[in-house]
Amino acid sequence: MTSVISVKVTTRDGEEKTVTQGAGHTTLMQMLYEEDIGVEAVCGGCASCATCHVLIDPNWMGKLPERDQAELMLLQYAEFYDPERSRLSCQLALTPDMEGMPMVIAPEE
Ligand code: FES
Repeated sequence: MTSVISVKVTTRDGEEKTVTQGAGHTTLMQMLYEEDIGVEAVCGGCASCATCHVLIDPNWMGKLPERDQAELMLLQYAEFYDPERSRLSCQLALTPDMEGMPMVIAPEE
């Protein structure tokens, strides 16, 4: 049986929530999108909108795969880009390493 991932999310209102992977979710964005907490994912995960921007706890960034060129380009133009914390949640495939990972939904641009 594959394990189900849960992450710790702080919403834009400062509310802390545990968000759990649902059926068919393969990326972090899909989990967050379904919670209706402001991750709009306008482009559907094509790395072209940045409305799935999250700020990951810096202590966890090293567990994640590197940003590819497309992700980095888009993030660098995002108003709330933080080199130590910013990721596009659509570019993060869910892995067991992410269990319990803390993150904040990036402010709306
Ligand atoms: S959903 Fe558009 S960049 Fe991630």
